[in-house]
Amino acid sequence: LSNSSAFVFSEDDGIFMRRALSLARLGRYTASPNPRVGCVVVQPPAPGQSAPRIIGEGYHRRKGTPHAERNALAACDEDPRGATLYVTLEPCCHYGATPPCTDAILEAGISRVVAAILDPFPEVQGKGVEILRNRGVRVDVGLLEEEAGFENRFFFHYQIHKRPWVILKAAMTLDGKLATHTGHSQWITGEEARAHVHEIRAEVDAILAGIGTVKADNPLLTSRSEKTPEGFKQPTRVILDPQLQIPRTSKLIRTIDRAPLWIFCHHSAPEYAIQELTFLRAAVTPVNGSRSALDLNEILQTLASSGVQSLMIEGGPRVHTAFLESRLVNELLIYIAPKIIGGENAPTFFMGTGEELMDRAERLERIERMPLGADTLIRGVLRR
Ligand SMILES: NC(=O)c1ccc[n+]([C@@H]2O[C@H](COP(=O)([O-])OP(=O)(O)OC[C@H]3O[C@@H](n4cnc5c(N)ncnc54)[C@H](OP(=O)(O)O)[C@@H]3O)[C@@H](O)[C@H]2O)c1
Repeated sequence: LSNSSAFVFSEDDGIFMRRALSLARLGRYTASPNPRVGCVVVQPPAPGQSAPRIIGEGYHRRKGTPHAERNALAACDEDPRGATLYVTLEPCCHYGATPPCTDAILEAGISRVVAAILDPFPEVQGKGVEILRNRGVRVDVGLLEEEAGFENRFFFHYQIHKRPWVILKAAMTLDGKLATHTGHSQWITGEEARAHVHEIRAEVDAILAGIGTVKADNPLLTSRSEKTPEGFKQPTRVILDPQLQIPRTSKLIRTIDRAPLWIFCHHSAPEYAIQELTFLRAAVTPVNGSRSALDLNEILQTLASSGVQSLMIEGGPRVHTAFLESRLVNELLIYIAPKIIGGENAPTFFMGTGEELMDRAERLERIERMPLGADTLIRGVLRR
């Protein structure tokens, strides 16, 4: 269904799809569980002019509201008949919360559709393209496919693997430490880096931390980003707490009204503690594993079955290490502060036994480096 690799999209095609991708990103804080999708409608040059014109654009804001294509068509300031529609994901052709976009495209008389990538959703998967082609619309697929897939990596990973996309976030000093040898870690990085973390928190469905971090730092684990739009829903806070030792006066418990709290414990956790925390409106789920190392696969599956498509692990080092050793991390976000603190017993984000030889080192792919005040973010993807 994708165009053959010999097919060459024009420079203008690339410009309009990039615009559609930047519109898709506007949905990053609200679209989940739906994908982020952007769309632009373009008419050929007007008589006497040389450049094609964008006559309408839109993106998908949240589930239950119109899709990007319908928003872009509704926003057109002239008749879209004969226009080209650029969209970052194959148009849907099924009745979900809203009617099919293929209908809207046909009704509008669009003559060409350029889609970045096919929809992995089983009810669509190429059928949207086929319906349009059968009705005489020219459909070209595969422009900026990699970028479009990456923008929707949470959605794609979840649809394909039935698991959340896992991001591991850590803030460390130049000598790789996550805290001093006494466990003190507030703050390693400066304000800009911490503001960036709040933006990423706002993008994910859930944030996870171990009970060690809860006891040491008493974190809130909510997003306080100024960039979130009205109606933004806080991610679920997930805590690994085998014996349910979470302090009942912790900020996490005191802010259950603001953001959901889901605690995973071991089957051996005391029943009265489960009841007490449930009474405090936390969700408590006993899982397998050992008394101090819960079964991470079971936890990810449980999160997935409640619709969590993306999860950010915020520490501490023992939890980081457990996820890395189990090869369950898809993406690393490492904030590096230009500070050194030393200390053999000061933790790093990946402890355990480690590799014997350098050629066994795991390499990040798709690396991005971003200066944030005095700090630097290095992020990238781990091949799984
Ligand atoms: N710089 C950063 O980015 C950053 C981020 C977060 C935290 N920190 C620092 O990290 C320190 C706390 O980290 P920590 O390593 O002591 O604690 P942690 O990783 O937050 O929590 C570890 C605890 O989680 C529980 N757990 C459940 N399942 C587990 C599994 N499969 N594997 C590992 N643990 C599991 C265990 O609880 P039980 O003890 O009940 O068995 C374990 O002791 C603090 O000093 C904090 O300031 C730094």
